[in-house]
Order: sequence, then structure tokens, then C-alpha cells
Amino acid sequence: MLLELKGVTIPTFDQKCNIVNNISFSVKEKSIHSIIGPNGSGKSTLAYSIMGLPTYKISKGQILFDGQDITNMNITERAKLGITLAWQEPARIDGLTVFKYVSLGIKDKSNQKENVIKALKTVNLEPERYLNRYIDETLSGGERKRIELAATIAMKPRLIILDEPTAGLDLIVIEDFLNIFNRIKELNMTILLITHREDIGMVSDYATLLWRGDEIITSTFPEVMIRYCAKAGLKEYCKRTVFQGEKTGCFDSDYIDRIFREEESK
Ligand SMILES: Nc1ncnc2c1ncn2[C@@H]1O[C@H](COP(=O)(O)OP(=O)(O)OP(=O)(O)O)[C@@H](O)[C@H]1O
Ligand SMILES: [Mg+2]
Repeated sequence: MLLELKGVTIPTFDQKCNIVNNISFSVKEKSIHSIIGPNGSGKSTLAYSIMGLPTYKISKGQILFDGQDITNMNITERAKLGITLAWQEPARIDGLTVFKYVSLGIKDKSNQKENVIKALKTVNLEPERYLNRYIDETLSGGERKRIELAATIAMKPRLIILDEPTAGLDLIVIEDFLNIFNRIKELNMTILLITHREDIGMVSDYATLLWRGDEIITSTFPEVMIRYCAKAGLKEYCKRTVFQGEKTGCFDSDYIDRIFREEESK
């Protein structure tokens, strides 16, 4: 397992209450693992805490990365081990070209340009059109997201945390991002994908459902989604949409009904 959470509890900054309670799940190397759950369930909090942001310190539990205890490591130490978080948009630094920005995190300076080109191609940006453009408001929102993702890929991290990476994107572009996530996986990187959209989650191999700070289930995405729909009381919606795809072919109607009954009786 690349990442293991063992009983992780994260309190609010003033320590008055817990945002997430006693979370334990593992993320397999070279997989796409999503964390799903409604607004406010603690997904971002958990993601930032794995990255090591100081405002989201864990009060109980342990985080292991490739078997090593990283619970007390800071963000820089974790980044050195290969954990990254792609921000929603690249930081705007005056006068920085796309080439310069994407190359910032590349350690091996000898074939920097080649690596930048490769990273831009991975996110479906034509290098010749973008290398010399400045990171400013002339880039579209979707382009900025791709550039941020390219900069992350160029660092060759082992784990990429993506918090709602498709927020604000058009449906047609979202399809392209799902392909990009699969391509990142083929580059032997692992993705922890935070989303509350079931169509995005479909790309993942495994998922964890958070509900008001509690972990409900970690399993394959369709299994987790059934539980999500049952908890949210969205049976008809889910049957109509989520469970019609090929990926859910193994779940027959009786099985889905049983999970819904189980949730209703809780
Ligand atoms: N520093 C903080 N102090 C107090 N409460 C906080 C703090 N940070 C987050 N919270 C609360 O913790 C809860 C979980 O927030 P979080 O941002 O992790 O949710 P989320 O699952 O990412 O939601 P969304 O889908 O809307 O992004 C929310 O109720 C939020 O208001
Ligand atoms: Mg969030």
C-alpha cells in the first residue's frame, strides 16, 4: 500500500470539535482512489492533512507513506517523499511563462525542456502553442487547470492529491480530464481524487465515502456509490443514472435494493 491512514482524527483549529473522526483506509500504489461525500463531509480537510498543511493537524491516528510514518512530517518533508497536491490554479507570478512554471519542480535539469513538453502533452496542451505564453488572465480556466496539472506531473511525484479538479469545467472537457487521469496512472503515479461528482468518481479503482466526518465504506467505486445513494436517499436518481453504466453491470437490482433497505433500517 502506498498510503495508509490509521484512525485519523482531525479537529478544528480551535480544537472544539472534530472535522473527521477515526478514518482508516489504504490507497494502493498506481491506482485512482477517490474520496467522495457531500459538501462539508471533510474531504478537503482530509486531503490537506495528508499533504501536511499546518492548519489541518491530526490529533489522533497515524499516516504511513510507503510504510514510513509521516504523521509528524511537515509539508516539505512529505513533498520530498513524492506527495503533491495540485492546486485549483497555478499561482500567478508576474512574468512567468508556462515553460518556466512547469519546469520549476523538475529536479533533473539536463532534459528539462523534454520533460516540460511531455507533461504538457499528457494534459493535452500543444507545447508549441503554450511554452512561451505567460501565466496570466489570457489563459482560460481550463487551460490554467491543465497547466497546474502539468506542473505537478513534471515533478514525477508518487502520489497526486486532486481536490475537485474538474470544478468549473464544461462537460465535454471533463471527459478529457478523465482520460488524463488514466494517463497519469499509466505513468505509475497514484491519484487521490477528491470529488462529490459520481461521473468523475467512475474513473477510480477504489473509493472511500465520508459522511459528516465519518468513514462509511471503502471499496470499489460502484459499491461505495450504492452506499452513498442509499444514505442520501437518492434511490431512484441513482438507479436511473449511476447504476446503468457498464461498470455497474455486476450489481443487480436486488443487491441495490438490499443495501438501500439496510441503510433505511439504521
Ligand atoms: N479551520 C476550520 N475551522 C472550523 N471548521 C472548519 C475548518 N475547516 C473546515 N471546517 C469545517 O469542516 C467541515 C468539512 O469541511 P471540508 O472543507 O473538509 O468539506 P468538503 O467535504 O471538502 O466539502 P466540499 O464538498 O464543500 O468541498 C465543514 O463543515 C467546514 O466548515
Ligand atoms: Mg472540499
